[in-house]
Amino acid sequence: MIQVVVNLLSNAAKFSASGATVAVSLQESPGHVRVSVVDSGVGIPDSFRGRIFERFAQADSSDRRQKGGTGLGLNICKSIIEAHQGRIDFVSEPGKRTEFYFDLPLKHAPDAAQPAVQAA
Ligand SMILES: Nc1ncnc2c1ncn2[C@@H]1O[C@H](COP(=O)(O)OP(=O)(O)O)[C@@H](O)[C@H]1O
Ligand SMILES: [Mg+2]
Repeated sequence: MIQVVVNLLSNAAKFSASGATVAVSLQESPGHVRVSVVDSGVGIPDSFRGRIFERFAQADSSDRRQKGGTGLGLNICKSIIEAHQGRIDFVSEPGKRTEFYFDLPLKHAPDAAQPAVQAA
C-alpha cells in the first residue's frame, strides 16, 4: 500500500506545477474505503485512458519528454490493488483537476465492536 500511495503522490507532484497543492483523502463508505490523490496539473487526455495502466505506457513517450519515469508505476499500482480485491481508476479534467483513487473492501471482524474480554 505504501508503494501504491508513493506512486500516486509522485505522479501528482511530477505532473503539477512547482508549488502546487496535492490533496490526499480517505473516505469510508459501506463496505469499502477510498483513498484519493488529487492534483491540478496537466491531466490525462481521454485518448490515453485505454492504455494508462499498461506496462511502459506514458502519455508522452517521446525522447524529448521533460518528465522522467518508466511508465511502470500505475501498472504496478493496479496489480497491488487488484491483489487486495480492490480497484483503481481516475477522473481527469486536463489542466484543472485530476483524481486517482483506489477502493479497498473493508473486512470487519465479526466481533470487532465487542471488547475481547468481557468485564466480570
Ligand atoms: N497525476 C497525473 N497527471 C497527469 N498524467 C499522469 C498522472 N499520473 C499518471 N499520468 C500519466 O500516466 C503515465 C504513466 O504513469 P506511471 O505508470 O506512473 O509512469 P511514469 O510516472 O513512470 O511515467 C505518465 O507518464 C503520465 O503520462
Ligand atoms: Mg509514476
